[in-house]
Amino acid sequence: MARLLLSGGHVVNSTGSRKADVLVADGSIVAVGDLASLSIVDAEVVDCAGKLLLPGGVDVHTHLDSPMMGTTTSDDFESGTKAAACGGTTTLVDFAMQTPGKSLVSSLAAHHAKATGKAVIDYSFHMCVTDLYDGATDEFAEVIQSGVSSFKIFMAYRGTLMLNDGDMFEVLRKSSALGGQVCVHAENGDVIDRLAADLVAAGKTGPSSHEIARPPSTEVEAVERAIRIARMADSPLYFVHLSTEGAVEAVAEARSKEWAIAGETCTHYLTLDRSLYDAPGFEPAKVVLTPPLRTVEHREALWRGLRAGTLGVVSSDHCPFCLEEKRRLGEKDFRDVPNGGPGVEHRMIVMYAEGVRKGRLTLEKFVDLTAAAPARQFGMAPRKGSIETGADGDIVVLDPDGTTVISAATQNQRMDYTPYEGWELPGSIDAVYSRGELVAKAGTYVGSQGRGQFLRRATA
Ligand code: URP
Ligand code: ZN
Ligand code: ZN
Ligand code: ZN
Repeated sequence: MARLLLSGGHVVNSTGSRKADVLVADGSIVAVGDLASLSIVDAEVVDCAGKLLLPGGVDVHTHLDSPMMGTTTSDDFESGTKAAACGGTTTLVDFAMQTPGKSLVSSLAAHHAKATGKAVIDYSFHMCVTDLYDGATDEFAEVIQSGVSSFKIFMAYRGTLMLNDGDMFEVLRKSSALGGQVCVHAENGDVIDRLAADLVAAGKTGPSSHEIARPPSTEVEAVERAIRIARMADSPLYFVHLSTEGAVEAVAEARSKEWAIAGETCTHYLTLDRSLYDAPGFEPAKVVLTPPLRTVEHREALWRGLRAGTLGVVSSDHCPFCLEEKRRLGEKDFRDVPNGGPGVEHRMIVMYAEGVRKGRLTLEKFVDLTAAAPARQFGMAPRKGSIETGADGDIVVLDPDGTTVISAATQNQRMDYTPYEGWELPGSIDAVYSRGELVAKAGTYVGSQGRGQFLRRATA
């Protein structure tokens, strides 16, 4: 039996933290506590004195090997999951896009084929519904029974991804009747398309126009409308990538009424801001992602929303396109710049540094937002998201005295930039274990190939 003893570290769970030893056998945690007296034999012992032991990160919002806006995201399941592992994330839930003209079940099978044998950490999918063809909802039960217990819909990108309100209502009521969840991208796509057309007509075709075409109210209106439609459908709802103060207020009001509304925000909305759109030339394309980055006031409202529990999850929305690819497609018209940015590798250390070390979050809250809560929300607890007996041996060894310098030149993401270029952060991720196997050491992937397992997720 392969056994691993992580001794003397400071074990952090969302529920509390303490100095403890952790014993992992055959991929699972079998004991947590003061194990020195047990004289454990046959175990590889790793001295973790002075280190934090965190549950492996759970990132429930990534787009790997994913078709988007006429191209494909630059990380596939191999490069993307290796980058995730190096950054302390041991579980992903990726978006399986519906292929235009194809059924949900066959689109899901196609996404499985991209991940099988390539992913190096455990993963699951959300099923994106972009075309509610006749019979689409009849496939929901099969999708859910296969372990994909959540769907995603878009309120923006008319003509490619967007559902109308009636279709959204239908997805919500059919999914909730089966115990499934629906994740929604909330932006008023039609208003955005008008604003964007005006900007182009006025000759403002550069990437900084992306932000101007998507003002905060286009998110807030969509959030408020989606909450109302979810109520009509008697369905819970999960908002992905919220970016505005008004969205936080709308979610808080719904939650105060005990409506089943959950909200996520992303690393970049918490740590970057709209000033990056003022950069010269094509530079702003690096942060052409949706919704756009906002002002510092919105950013602070998001941190307050996390502390208040209004927003429960921090994901990366890792949707990487190289700058050269953004330029190739969108140099003449910002509407053609593929939307998205990288982040799966840096979510954990950026949140630790900007959240915990800047005094905005407790260690326990940091673990909750980046691992425990997303695992609970999407049916992966108690296997994922905690360091407890019975959980998978997914553990991050973080050195609080270390330093991390982020740079495109050294990152594992298959990208020619990172929005965190040159950031020097307190703390370093020394080692990452996935089901007891050492998979990353000091930012280098050292695990075996294709070892990731598909996680069948439970319904609510
Ligand atoms: O810019 C983003 N977020 N691209 C990915 C697609 C999405 O909306 O999540
Ligand atoms: Zn989205
Ligand atoms: Zn996304
Ligand atoms: Zn490239």
